[in-house]
Amino acid sequence: MGKRVIIDTDPGVDDALALLLAFKSYELHVEAITTVNGNVAVDQATRNAALLLELLDPSPRPILAMGSVRAARKRPIRTQSVHGPDGLGGLYRFKNRDGSPRYPDATLPVQIFDATEVFFDLLKRYPDEMSLIMLGPLTNLAEALKKDPRRVKGLREVVIMGGAIGVPGNITPGAEFNIFMDPQAAHRVFHSGLPMTLVPLDVTERVCLESEEIKALARIMEEPLGGFVRDITGRSIAYTREARGMSAIYLHDPLAVGVAIDPTMVKSADLHVEVETSRGITYGMIIADTRAISNSLKPPNLDVALEVESELFLTFFKERLCQRSW
Ligand code: BDR
Ligand code: CA
Repeated sequence: MGKRVIIDTDPGVDDALALLLAFKSYELHVEAITTVNGNVAVDQATRNAALLLELLDPSPRPILAMGSVRAARKRPIRTQSVHGPDGLGGLYRFKNRDGSPRYPDATLPVQIFDATEVFFDLLKRYPDEMSLIMLGPLTNLAEALKKDPRRVKGLREVVIMGGAIGVPGNITPGAEFNIFMDPQAAHRVFHSGLPMTLVPLDVTERVCLESEEIKALARIMEEPLGGFVRDITGRSIAYTREARGMSAIYLHDPLAVGVAIDPTMVKSADLHVEVETSRGITYGMIIADTRAISNSLKPPNLDVALEVESELFLTFFKERLCQRSW
């Protein structure tokens, strides 16, 4: 039996790839998927997670729970240009031969649970056993900490995709999207005292899959997942080609899942990390204290991934996606 995990996510093309990796890895046992406002609004994120569960059909099926509809920002930024209006590269465009939609809307459970309640429930059921992998803004964990910090203490570890330390941001010159969407939540989480690993752009931008590799991977994967991977990635690849001049996709969120599976995929350091919550050009930016002045440093609050074995991870990712579901 693998490590029991909750995956908190805002699918999102790379989130979907991360979920595929998690379900195809025997080291993880996904107890729940919780959704959050991010790449798309939380209700769409929930529909996307439900669609993925329908396609994967894992047994047992994890709980699907939805985060608060309260937007962290008054006017949230969505990432349509990267992830498409639906978050999954515009899946509504694809039709079967008879004209019916290739990806009909997923059926949501009649009663949808609240993300924080699911955190509390699983932590009570499996004290000190649960890991949390966060692939979107940190809103849900911050909400749980606000409601009852004692009940969150039983988390064994938290792995967070977010932030940029020594590289530029991807939403502003300094800030990375997940942290920028809810810096107040990031502040609360960073100061929670929980055992946390941060997987920032410094390492996630070093794991890219070229468009030809994605096509080849999609061809070998079992159906309908191969077709799904091909259909969700087209738009993201086009965006990266236009914006960055390369036909590829960044595996931000899959790397966070990779780190939860095998922490030796990255080299990390314990650092003190703060987040800027005041409005201005540095809003949502994080600062890690990497100075070599030991007597003036604050105690570390996060283990930060700073280097990655890129080829090792990419090979691992491709091999896992080609396997049948566990
Ligand atoms: C993060 O932002 C989102 O668009 C991706 O899904 C990933 O979680 C990368 O900055
Ligand atoms: Ca994400």
